[in-house]
Amino acid sequence: MAHSVTPGLAQTLVSRFGSPLYVYDALTVQKRAQELKTAFKGLTVHYAVKANANPALLELIKNEELGAEAVSPGEILIARRAGFKKQNISFTGPNLSETDLRFAAEHAGRVHLDSLTQLEIWGRLRLGNTVSLRVNLGIGAGHHEHVRTGGDGSKFGITEADFPRALQLAKKLNVRITGLQQHIGSHVPDGSDYVEGARLLLKAAEQFPDIAHIDFGGGLPIPYEPKDKRVNLGWIGRELQGYMRAYAKRTGRTTEYAIEPGRYVVAEAGTLLVTVTDVKQTAAHVFVGVNSGFNHLIRPALYGSYHDIENLSRTTGQLTSITVAGNVCESGDVFAWDREGVVPQLGDILAIRDVGAYGISMASTYNLRPLPREILISEGTLRDISFNRTPFLIRS
Ligand code: LLP
Repeated sequence: MAHSVTPGLAQTLVSRFGSPLYVYDALTVQKRAQELKTAFKGLTVHYAVKANANPALLELIKNEELGAEAVSPGEILIARRAGFKKQNISFTGPNLSETDLRFAAEHAGRVHLDSLTQLEIWGRLRLGNTVSLRVNLGIGAGHHEHVRTGGDGSKFGITEADFPRALQLAKKLNVRITGLQQHIGSHVPDGSDYVEGARLLLKAAEQFPDIAHIDFGGGLPIPYEPKDKRVNLGWIGRELQGYMRAYAKRTGRTTEYAIEPGRYVVAEAGTLLVTVTDVKQTAAHVFVGVNSGFNHLIRPALYGSYHDIENLSRTTGQLTSITVAGNVCESGDVFAWDREGVVPQLGDILAIRDVGAYGISMASTYNLRPLPREILISEGTLRDISFNRTPFLIRS
């Protein structure tokens, strides 16, 4: 896609706000949110806050009338402060403490419990008369095993074998199970596993007599590599709607539906601008050193993820194989191995693309380097939207 952070703008941004710098494009966020609303008409779209919790982005997303999906008290709080109403926030998480659960029960509209133990705590603490369960129906998918959250080896959800026990326990606790949720993984390729997961979830719902809401989870992919095709949202939406109609017919139930995409909403809106600080030729690689690292963008180091990298200062020159490495003191700190590119000069600005999701939200202050500032481009204006995370870090 065309990127709003063009070479000329990158120079302005870096001279005004410094480097490294996260830059987001408001229009892309709005466009992706609208695509989702169109493809998934009749379903509520809950944006997964973990992808990027920046309050300015949350406000944009809220103004597009999406809800929010949170996984911690901090995420609930930041969503509430951004203006999401309690009833438009859902909450899902594994291995929650009593404090987490109390907070979620008080401040989120829907809570999806991950285990029988969580259900037992919910009942014992009298957190509500109704609840929803996260289930694991044996189907998992995603771009890396770290993010496949369904299937046999996964720590997530209640498996089908435990459904009778869940129902018995709920009865004993005087709690009605009124919802089911599933999240099979992240960056699920082409959507076919997502659709199959949805079909299985609707089938599973028939085992629970009081189901009034069903959440198909997140996981929609985006095109990271030039060879990647954009996922066919329209097709996924139509498949889901077909299954929903059939389910309504089979059961006679009226049901509310939701999905929980994170990446799809914000990934493509984000660019990380970094500056070349070193060029070192070794026998094996041409290392292009930059003033950022896996402390600011961990996806390549953690999952081997691909992010396009463009030299915005030098568009012509001899192409060769370059390895873009960060300034963290670990050899795994590499953004891209042996990519074709022009050998940069010191001071060149490189754009690392599609980092709006799981970029700054997974960043750390490892090596005691500050986080990059965050800038929003909106209707031709540049706004520093960097924020202080400390107030949202509630101890639980
Ligand atoms: N709902 C639940 C319960 C989730 O656990 C997640 C993501 C989502 C929704 C949103 O998934 P999405 O639509 O963004 O794929 N750090 C990894 C991704 C981890 C996602 C974890 N859960 C990455 O950088 O690829």
